[in-house]
Amino acid sequence: MKEVLGMSSAQMPSELACYDPVARGIHWQIAALALIIVSLGLAIPEAPRNTASRDLLMLLHRSVGLLILLVMLFRAVWRMSHPPPPLPPTMRRIEVALAHATHWGLYLMFFAMPLAGYVNAAAAGHSVSFFGLFSIPPLLPENQKLSQLAVAAHQVGQFVVYGLVAAHVAAGLMHRLIRRDEVWGRMLPVRR
Ligand code: HEM
Ligand code: HEM
Repeated sequence: MKEVLGMSSAQMPSELACYDPVARGIHWQIAALALIIVSLGLAIPEAPRNTASRDLLMLLHRSVGLLILLVMLFRAVWRMSHPPPPLPPTMRRIEVALAHATHWGLYLMFFAMPLAGYVNAAAAGHSVSFFGLFSIPPLLPENQKLSQLAVAAHQVGQFVVYGLVAAHVAAGLMHRLIRRDEVWGRMLPVRR
């Protein structure tokens, strides 16, 4: 079992039984970026093609997507070396399994969506600019079919993201408002 200050997590006072500050910081950074990227993504089809506003929305959407991919890479590495404290023993096995499945689904989708966005562009032969600072060239051979497949995956994937985030937030609120256990507090940006 993980040792902190010479104590096993089972012996730790409850105020220590939360995600570490880096994990909490990245969690809320990704949550904010998720809100921004979905808003930008939904605004793209509203802007007429071949206009400066559409190009700007695309540039920002793609750049924020690449930023999410970068932060998620760091987050996954951090997570592997910093396991979270165990969930409260009052949670049923099915609830723990559902929580883990939702978390893994969120990790997966926040890698899959930026990758599908990149493959869409790269397989069509386009590089992807990061806020106009530098560009990532297409790292795949041109393949229009693959590009179309990636567009479809990206379009469908948004609904998987909405479903997972809705279930995740609903579960968090259930813990906060109904169960009133420590689950919600484990991820608060600042410890009370
Ligand atoms: C977590 C990352 C991402 C999320 C959650 C996301 C989400 C979305 C959403 C919700 C839309 C609107 C779809 C619609 O209703 O038309 C969209 C469109 C789009 N996204 Fe992303 N996106 C992400 C990353 C990226 C990246 C990294 C790129 C490119 C490098 C990209 C390229 C596009 C493009 C070109 C569109 C326009 C419509 C289309 O071709 O499907 N996205 N995205
Ligand atoms: C308002 C929105 C959100 C709220 C209130 C919220 C709340 C929480 C809470 C309370 C936990 C801790 C659960 C536990 O104790 O095990 C958690 C974990 C987690 N959240 Fe969120 N969250 C939000 C948005 C998001 C978004 C947009 C993502 C997208 C990636 C996300 C991904 C995760 C993941 C992957 C974990 C598990 C972390 C790990 O074990 O490494 N959350 N969230």
